[in-house]
Amino acid sequence: MTTPQNTLVLDAINGLRTEKIPVWLMRQAGRYQPEYRALREKVSFLELCHSPTLCSEVAVRSVEQLGVDAAILFADILLILEPMGIGFHFGENDGPKIPVPVRTAQDVERVCVADVARLDFVMDAVRTTSRDLKGSVPLLGFSGAPFTLASYMIEGAGSKDYQHTKTLMWREPQAFSQLLARITESLIAYLNAQIESGVHAVQVFDSWVGALGESDYREHVLPHMKRLFQAVKAPTIHFGTGNPALYTAMHEAGATMLGIDHRASLESIRQQSGATRMQGNLDPIVLFAGEEVIQREAARVIAEARALEGYIFNLGHGCMPGMKPELVKHLVDVVHQ
Ligand code: CP3
Repeated sequence: MTTPQNTLVLDAINGLRTEKIPVWLMRQAGRYQPEYRALREKVSFLELCHSPTLCSEVAVRSVEQLGVDAAILFADILLILEPMGIGFHFGENDGPKIPVPVRTAQDVERVCVADVARLDFVMDAVRTTSRDLKGSVPLLGFSGAPFTLASYMIEGAGSKDYQHTKTLMWREPQAFSQLLARITESLIAYLNAQIESGVHAVQVFDSWVGALGESDYREHVLPHMKRLFQAVKAPTIHFGTGNPALYTAMHEAGATMLGIDHRASLESIRQQSGATRMQGNLDPIVLFAGEEVIQREAARVIAEARALEGYIFNLGHGCMPGMKPELVKHLVDVVHQ
């Protein structure tokens, strides 16, 4: 793996106060971009994920258009499901669907640890994207976190209340733990394969973990997160959203940097958890509110990051369809100034 020219993001992850604030945005490649929507007229989302050339094109375009300090691999957290024996598809505009969900201890038995050779197309995308970035900015790999992936497997789709997930967790804690352990082992192999293929650091997305209270997180999720971060062989960003009360326990999981959503201030999480390296946490909806609000709110977030030893500016959650590309770009410029 070669060191990129722009090392701001890697320096911040490694705990250095950088002269310029590094910035990248979750979902910086996606449907808010007219070029992405045009491409999606021609290929389905999963076809796109299976084409290393198109993945690279989409990932590199967002870096060139926005001037961000890192690229993120174009893929999806759900790609790991197939090699674990769980089929899924994306409906047009209604999110992922898992036709045969995992609901019982018996169902857990049929979930296997992924043979990551079946995700070779993702490793090709890593190599192609690295090549096309020409050493400019680092490339970030990623995966979902065990709880978030388990919740998709168990619910069969996105969910509001995680009824089936929590029911399995409380009624069959051993089966639930076995499921998270198999996901964790799959993710370790998957993330380390991305690292061997050339990503400089990885982000683990626990997008739905905020559905849990802290004691359930500590009992049912934290041990798997500790195992994951201890086994991944590059710097890690641990992103979770939805419940600020979890960040102290998440910090104990041992990732290199903590990714914070917009529901708490960076300074309050620093005081609460003791974490000194953070990424975040502008409310993504600010991007709909115009230039003045963007400038004011970005300045507020940056001020709250003052005491951190390593800081990367990002949104509290991802870019969304309907955002104006010129305002997304404006945000990046504001942070760099
Ligand atoms: O720039 C990037 O960040 C692109 C890479 C990326 C995608 N998904 C592409 C994508 C990343 C890092 C993800 C992660 C992901 N996928 C998460 C975690 C991040 C988060 O937002 O919390 C989750 C929960 C998923 C699962 C997922 N993928 C859902 C629920 C959906 C459908 C809902 C939606 O937002 O449309 C997807 C599809 C998806 N993944 C799209 C993109 C660009 C949109 C697909 C399309 O083109 O129609």
